[in-house]
Amino acid sequence: MAKVRKVVFPAAGLGTRFLPATKAQPKEMLPLVDKPLIQYGVEESIHSGIQNIIIVTGRGKSAIEDHFDVSFELEHLLETKGKLDLLKQVRDISDMINVSYVRQKEAMGLGHAVLRARELVGNEPFAVVLSDDVIDAEVPCVRQLLDIHEFYGASVVALMEVPKEQISAYGVVDAEPVEHNGAQGRLYRVRNMVEKPKADEAPSNLAIIGRYILAPEIFQSIEEIPPGAGGEIQLTDALKHLLRSRPIYGLKFEGKRFDAGDKLGFLQATVEFALRRPDLGAAFRDYLRTLLS
Ligand code: UTP
Repeated sequence: MAKVRKVVFPAAGLGTRFLPATKAQPKEMLPLVDKPLIQYGVEESIHSGIQNIIIVTGRGKSAIEDHFDVSFELEHLLETKGKLDLLKQVRDISDMINVSYVRQKEAMGLGHAVLRARELVGNEPFAVVLSDDVIDAEVPCVRQLLDIHEFYGASVVALMEVPKEQISAYGVVDAEPVEHNGAQGRLYRVRNMVEKPKADEAPSNLAIIGRYILAPEIFQSIEEIPPGAGGEIQLTDALKHLLRSRPIYGLKFEGKRFDAGDKLGFLQATVEFALRRPDLGAAFRDYLRTLLS
């Protein structure tokens, strides 16, 4: 079975939930404490063993390319000022990855964005990471999915339980539990899925969140499906199409996911990540206490 060597980051969306901040700046570059959202996803991929990064960008997204590029002036300045720890931080991330870019000219949906990466991915399984889903986990979420993929040789999506009031914002699965490693309740075999169902029509409370391991046949499926919810080419619809010929597993991953593409989710992630920082946590906690007293 082919090893997963590449990860696709769709980053060509318009980020309308975060306007006006995203009018002239990509959502993926919003800083969570001091790192842009997309860097969390890239680091998760590296820690999962994948260094080949494919970023699907669009108009107004050049800050993403600059971020992963070498900045000669900045590096020179940090070097001459002897700020070597900062120099290391700036260099480390671009040294660790091979990054390529492909453009999605128009934001025609997540499925359409993934299809743009077809040439760069080739005929092998690959990962997809949506960088506005930031996941804090002991074992990186992508690694958890790769373990399932390596065991079953099939596509895997990350699942999360979502309250009924919020379910219509997600792709939702109809799935049967599968025993894995002697444990029940984490792994599912997907029977069907539906994008953004009405709360009463959702097949379960298990939503697909932004981490996938996909068989290359997904590209054919994306090509064959018509536009779905919101007139966009939806990845969930393509997965449903893929299900006709290939198995898909769903893993309730271990860890906590933040929807950092949404203002409230972003604030929650900011607070929790800042509290966990050795250099900031204590002072920030003290500050939060003054607000509550
Ligand atoms: P979202 O559903 O968060 O959409 O996309 P969005 O357009 O970025 O943001 P809102 O909902 O308007 O606020 C999930 C991921 O898919 C990418 C986005 O960049 C994001 O990482 N995407 C979405 C594309 O690359 N292209 C698209 O056409 C749509």
